[in-house]
Amino acid sequence: MMAERQPFIAGNWKMHKTLAEARTLARDIRQGAAPGRRAEVALAPPYTALAAVAAELAGSGLRLAAQDTFWERQGAFTGAISPAMLADVGCHYVIVGHSERRQHFGDTDATVNRKLTAVVAAGLIPILCVGETQAERAAGQTLQVVRGQLEGGLGALKPASGSALVVAYEPVWAIGTGLTATPGQAQTVHHFIRSLLREFLGPAAEEIRLQYGGSVTPDNAAILLAQPDIDGALVGGASLKPELFLPIIAAAG
Ligand code: 13P
Repeated sequence: MMAERQPFIAGNWKMHKTLAEARTLARDIRQGAAPGRRAEVALAPPYTALAAVAAELAGSGLRLAAQDTFWERQGAFTGAISPAMLADVGCHYVIVGHSERRQHFGDTDATVNRKLTAVVAAGLIPILCVGETQAERAAGQTLQVVRGQLEGGLGALKPASGSALVVAYEPVWAIGTGLTATPGQAQTVHHFIRSLLREFLGPAAEEIRLQYGGSVTPDNAAILLAQPDIDGALVGGASLKPELFLPIIAAAG
C-alpha cells in the first residue's frame, strides 16, 4: 500500500544572510508561497537569524529549521547550541549530518547519531542527511556508503512514527556544483533508502519523507519530485532567492 506523504520543501540557507536580509527573504517567501499549496515548507537560516525568521513566519504555517545542533542539553560547551534551545526559539526541524558538517567540522556517523537522538528527545524532527562523494560513486560504493550513514546515524533510534523523521539524500558531488543526480539516479538511491528504513523501522518507513538535495532548481524540481520515492527537496543555493525557491515550492503541487 502506498502511503500518502505530504511533499516537504526545505531551504538550507547555510552561512548566508544578515539579519535584515534574512527578514526580507523570509517575508518574501511567506508572501509568495500559495496558501493552498500541497507542500510543507521549512526555512533553515543561520542560528543568528532564527529568532528573526521565527517572528516573520509566525502564524504562516511555514516551519523553522536549524542547520545543526549539539547533543547536550546545556552546560560548558562554548559555541554550541542545544536542541532544547532550538525548540525554544521555535524550530520544528533540525538538519543533522549535512555533508558540509561531516567535511569541515568533523561530524561522524557516531556524532550524527548522538545529535539525532538528542533532537528527537527534545521533541524536534531531524532531517538526516546522507550521500556519497564523487569518488565513492565512481568506485561503485554509493549504496554501501548510504547504508553505512543511515545505519550509523539512526543507531538504535526508533522514531515514534514515520512523521518523526525525514531523510535527505544529498550526493556530495551534486551540492553547489550545478550537477544534479538524474531523476533515475536519485530514485534508485531513494528506493534503496526506503527499503533500508523498512528493514530498520518496519511499516513506519512508508510515512517517512525522503528529500533529494543537490543543485535543485525550478528547472529540475518537478521531474525529481515526480519520482515515487522522492517526497521533497532540500534546497541550498536556490533557496536564497524567492524567484527560484517559490517555483520549487510550486513544483511540489
Ligand atoms: P545546493 O542546492 O546549493 O546544491 O545545496 C544543496 C544542499 O546542500 C542543501 O542542504
